[in-house]
Amino acid sequence: MLKDYEIDKPILETDRLIIRVLNENDTDDLKEWLGRDEIYTYWGRKASKGEKNPELLFIDPRPWVKRKPSPDFDWGIVLKETNKVVGMIAVFDIQNSRMGDIAYRVNPEYWNMGITTEALKEVLRFVFENTEIDRLNGRADVRNIASNRVMEKCGFVKEGTVRQGKMVSVYCDYNIYGLLREDYMSIPGII
Ligand SMILES: CC(C)(COP(=O)(O)OP(=O)(O)OC[C@H]1O[C@@H](n2cnc3c(N)ncnc32)[C@H](O)[C@@H]1OP(=O)(O)O)[C@@H](O)C(=O)NCCC(=O)NCCS
Repeated sequence: MLKDYEIDKPILETDRLIIRVLNENDTDDLKEWLGRDEIYTYWGRKASKGEKNPELLFIDPRPWVKRKPSPDFDWGIVLKETNKVVGMIAVFDIQNSRMGDIAYRVNPEYWNMGITTEALKEVLRFVFENTEIDRLNGRADVRNIASNRVMEKCGFVKEGTVRQGKMVSVYCDYNIYGLLREDYMSIPGII
């Protein structure tokens, strides 16, 4: 149940990857890539101050404010072989414990090695086996071939294309994907 993970987020593992919450010790790894502009080509913006200076991501600007537990998951992707943080993957904007969005980004030095697909498949297993979420949403700019491909490889169903809509921060044509619990359960080899 989502409630079980409000405070302690799980650590997931695949053949090549550990998927875990990041901390300040990961700053040097993130500095290598999180500020690179090619990651944000289809997000319609440049890297933010925090993305360019990842140490800022771990400083709580208002430590006196008691934080509400969040149902969201925000993980780093660590390559076991080198113990380096090479990506990030999130399930966020979870609504009524029923539906959430997915997002991911990977160090460009590690693109097209199947890392995001491997991480997302494991995140899907976790979500549908351990939480009550019934639907995940994905969105990808139509020009973002790699992201569209990741969703297709993970079984997401393309439900349509929004024309000249606002996906993140600029207007573009983007594809909407959905993965229902029942879609996931019918993927061959899942059960
Ligand atoms: C999207 C992103 C996370 C994909 O990460 P990745 O680890 O390289 O993804 P994978 O290797 O698992 O899969 C990528 C697929 O796209 C394919 N691909 C990538 N560029 C391609 C191109 N120009 N033409 C054809 N196929 C392409 C790869 O061949 C691979 O498919 P395959 O396994 O069938 O060969 C990465 O490109 C990224 O960080 N992009 C910037 C951030 C971003 O756009 N995030 C998503 C926002 S919606």
